[in-house]
Amino acid sequence: MSDSKIGLIGAGAIGRAHLVGAAGAKGVEIVGIADPNPAAQALAEEFSIPWFKDHRALIDETKPDGAIVATPNALHVPIALELIAAGTAVLVEKPITDSVDEGLRLGRAAADAEVPLLVGHHRRHNPIIRTARALVQGGQLGRLVSASVLATFLKHDAYFNEAWRRTPAAGPVLINLIHEIDLLRFVCGEIESLQAVTSNAIRGFEVEDTAATLLCFKSGAIATITLSDSAAAPWSWDLSSGENPAFPKTPVESHFLCGTEASIALPTLRMWRYPGERGWLQPLQDEEVRFDAANPYIEQMRHFGAVIRREEQPLTDAFDATRTLEVTLAVRDAARSGTTIRFG
Ligand SMILES: NC(=O)c1ccc[n+]([C@@H]2O[C@H](COP(=O)([O-])OP(=O)(O)OC[C@H]3O[C@@H](n4cnc5c(N)ncnc54)[C@H](O)[C@@H]3O)[C@@H](O)[C@H]2O)c1
Repeated sequence: MSDSKIGLIGAGAIGRAHLVGAAGAKGVEIVGIADPNPAAQALAEEFSIPWFKDHRALIDETKPDGAIVATPNALHVPIALELIAAGTAVLVEKPITDSVDEGLRLGRAAADAEVPLLVGHHRRHNPIIRTARALVQGGQLGRLVSASVLATFLKHDAYFNEAWRRTPAAGPVLINLIHEIDLLRFVCGEIESLQAVTSNAIRGFEVEDTAATLLCFKSGAIATITLSDSAAAPWSWDLSSGENPAFPKTPVESHFLCGTEASIALPTLRMWRYPGERGWLQPLQDEEVRFDAANPYIEQMRHFGAVIRREEQPLTDAFDATRTLEVTLAVRDAARSGTTIRFG
C-alpha cells in the first residue's frame, strides 16, 4: 500500500490539528499547504512541508490524491467543487457549509463525479463515542430513554475582538452546538423534532450566548442540550474529553445517556445498572466500560487515507453532515418562532 498524498488548504487552528493528526496516522502524507496567511507559511516551514499561496498552485504542482478544506465556512463549497472537478478526494471541515441546499449540492456533485467526500465531524472517530454508540445501538442500555448534554464553557473576552464572532455568522449554536447535534445523531439515532430557547442576556451581542434545546428522536427517546459560551463552568466535551490539547482537561462528565436497563456517562464511559432487583429503592452499581483510547484527529486522518484509496466508505458523507447542519440551523428558527420544528 502506498501512502495517500494529501494537500491541506487552510492552515489555521484546525489545520494545525490536521497536521498533527497526519503526522500520527498510517497511510497518509501531507504534500503541501495552501494558505495565503504568513502564519501558515511559517507553519509549513515548522512541519517541513511545501507552502503554496493558493489551492490551485498546490493541486497543479503536487497532484494530491486528496485534500483537506479547513478554510472559513464560506469557502468550503467553492473549493471542494474545484477539487471534485479535478478528481481529488475531499475532507471538508464542519459545518459542511452554511445552507442545506449548498450541502446537498456538494453531496450530489461528489456522487455524480464518484469522488469520495468526508466531512470533518472528528468526534465520530473518538473511541469513547464509538463505544457509547455500540452500547446504545447494541441494546446494552435497554431501550434508550433520554440524553442530557451539557456544553457550558467560557470563551475568553479576546475571542470576541473579531467582529464576525459577535454576529449570527458565528455564535455557539453554529460553532459548538453542531458537534453535540452530530454526536447525538451518531450515538442515539435520527432526530424527529426540536424546540429551543436562546438568550443573549449575558454578553448582549447580536448573536446568542446561551441556548437550551429539546430534541425528540424517531425512537421516542428525548434529549436536552444546555449550551453556553458565557458560563465559568467545566461541563462540556471540549473540557472533559481532553481531545484538544488547547483546552485544560477537567475530570468531569458532560454527557448522560439513560436507558431502561442501564445508563452511561461520558467521557468516562461509567455505566450504572442494578446488579439485582431493579427500582429506585435498590442500590445502583457502576463500572467503567473499557475502551482503547485514541486521538480522533489521527483516526480521522487514517480513515481519510483509506477513503481516498476506496478501502472504506466515508464515515460522515455530505448528506449525513447536511442533516446535522439542518437540525442545527433549526435551533435558531425554533427559538425565534417559539414553535416545534419537525424533520422529514
Ligand atoms: N472539527 C472541529 O472541531 C473544528 C474546530 C475548529 C474549526 N473547525 C472548522 O474549520 C474551519 C476553519 O476554522 P479555524 O478555526 O481553523 O479558522 P482559522 O481562522 O484559524 O483558519 C482558517 C485559515 O484559512 C485560511 N484561508 C482563508 N482563505 C483561504 C483560501 N482562499 N485558501 C486557503 N486558505 C485560506 C486563513 O488564512 C486561515 O489560516 C471552519 O470551517 C471551522 O468551522 C472545525
